[in-house]
Amino acid sequence: MSSQGLTHSQHKMADAGVHPTAIDVFSRFYALLQDGATGTVPEADIEPLTDVTHRDELDVTPQDAADALSRTVLIKLNGGLGTSMGMDRAKSLLTVRTTDSPDAAPLTFLDIIARQVRAARAATGAPLPLLFMNSFRTRDDTLAALAAYPDLAVDGLPLDFLQNREPKLRADDLEPVEWPADPDLEWCPPGHGDLYTALVASGALQTLLDAGYLYASVSNSDNLGASPDAAMAGWFAASGAPFAAEVARRTPADRKGGHVVVRRSDSRLVLRETAQTPEEDLAAAGDIERHKFFNTNNLWLDLRALAAELERTGGVLELPLIVNPKTVDPTDPSSTPVIQMESAMGAAIEVFEGSTVIEVDRSRFLPVKATSDLLLLRSDVYELAEDFTLRATVEAPLIDLDGAYYKLVGDFDARFAQGVPSLRGANSLTVHGDWSFGRDVVAEGDAVLEDAGTPSSVPDGARVGPAGIAAGS
Ligand code: UTP
Repeated sequence: MSSQGLTHSQHKMADAGVHPTAIDVFSRFYALLQDGATGTVPEADIEPLTDVTHRDELDVTPQDAADALSRTVLIKLNGGLGTSMGMDRAKSLLTVRTTDSPDAAPLTFLDIIARQVRAARAATGAPLPLLFMNSFRTRDDTLAALAAYPDLAVDGLPLDFLQNREPKLRADDLEPVEWPADPDLEWCPPGHGDLYTALVASGALQTLLDAGYLYASVSNSDNLGASPDAAMAGWFAASGAPFAAEVARRTPADRKGGHVVVRRSDSRLVLRETAQTPEEDLAAAGDIERHKFFNTNNLWLDLRALAAELERTGGVLELPLIVNPKTVDPTDPSSTPVIQMESAMGAAIEVFEGSTVIEVDRSRFLPVKATSDLLLLRSDVYELAEDFTLRATVEAPLIDLDGAYYKLVGDFDARFAQGVPSLRGANSLTVHGDWSFGRDVVAEGDAVLEDAGTPSSVPDGARVGPAGIAAGS
């Protein structure tokens, strides 16, 4: 394998004006990739995380909460491209609600985030600056959409900062890939672990500190559950911790996912992903009674502690590498195989001495990773409250949509163009085959549609139950 790949990548980044710290971070990951360093976390080296305080048990005075919130900025990660759903733009540009918005206009993730922040400002009086971390692929669209909210920027602070970009590497020789047909596709954002590098490289961290902000409440822009929270701000400020993760209880559906553990050697909290779990420990890792908590990716950062740690490490935090195999053109599976080197923001929990966690309800974790998540958010399982938070009206049913017809958001939208079914009375909805849904369809019980072999329609007003479309509907 060529050892020139790193040098070529470094030159490519320098020529494109990428910040030197981002090149250092990339170079560290490249060395890990060449060494095949996957970094496992064996069960024998850790203890389960127990005794976590729940957000609803916090004893924070209204004054302390208000003081902390007035020093808090909101950061939304918005640099990803939603490629798993066939997107090449920010997921946050998708419509989430249509029917219950005040003027019946469709509301995107960005609209709802902006309105949640406005409502929280009005309720608390805190300035609550909102900053999106955009990537070179999401910035223009996002800022154009946010122009509808001229009051959103406060204190002369920008509405976003830009994350870094790195070359996609050819999977065969780890050289930076060349794609003359669309040179933009030669680059990718390096995952949301880039947050820390981007905060420094963009100058945003210093700007926020200079403006007197001390804390950041960070979350994914595709998680509308993560609305501003004064009680947690008060708790975080009083804790003195440099870093906190909101964790939630794992359910059987989360068996396979990552979880937070305590490292025996130094008692630090560590995020263990499935990929970092040795084969023989997979059963223990999947035991949700033993390992009860997963990371929601809603984080709290002390900006002064972050600045100090970044200063100490020359801007290169020791985050684990995530190897993400893709094709250079994500929409063309036959294009050149590449590797994207990424890192996860939550993995920084182990970097800070004194990191802590707080338990939150599942309602703070409503991520949209697949079109089935979008279907639920668009449905009557949720309602939009006056403060623009989404409230679950019932327990969310399990949604299983045929990957061949609903995986990509364009295909999904085409099949639900008349609206999404009522799901409040359903335990689950399973769709096999190619079904387009009419208006006012109601799913009930364990609703199933079997593959009819040809594109088919669910008529307006139909009821779908365990035996398919109910007779007479
Ligand atoms: P996801 O893990 O869902 O990734 O991101 P994604 O990039 O949006 O979608 P796929 O994997 O391509 O399908 C979780 C959050 O992290 C942000 C995303 O915008 C989303 O809010 N993110 C992800 C970044 O800000 N930068 C990145 O480099 C990656």
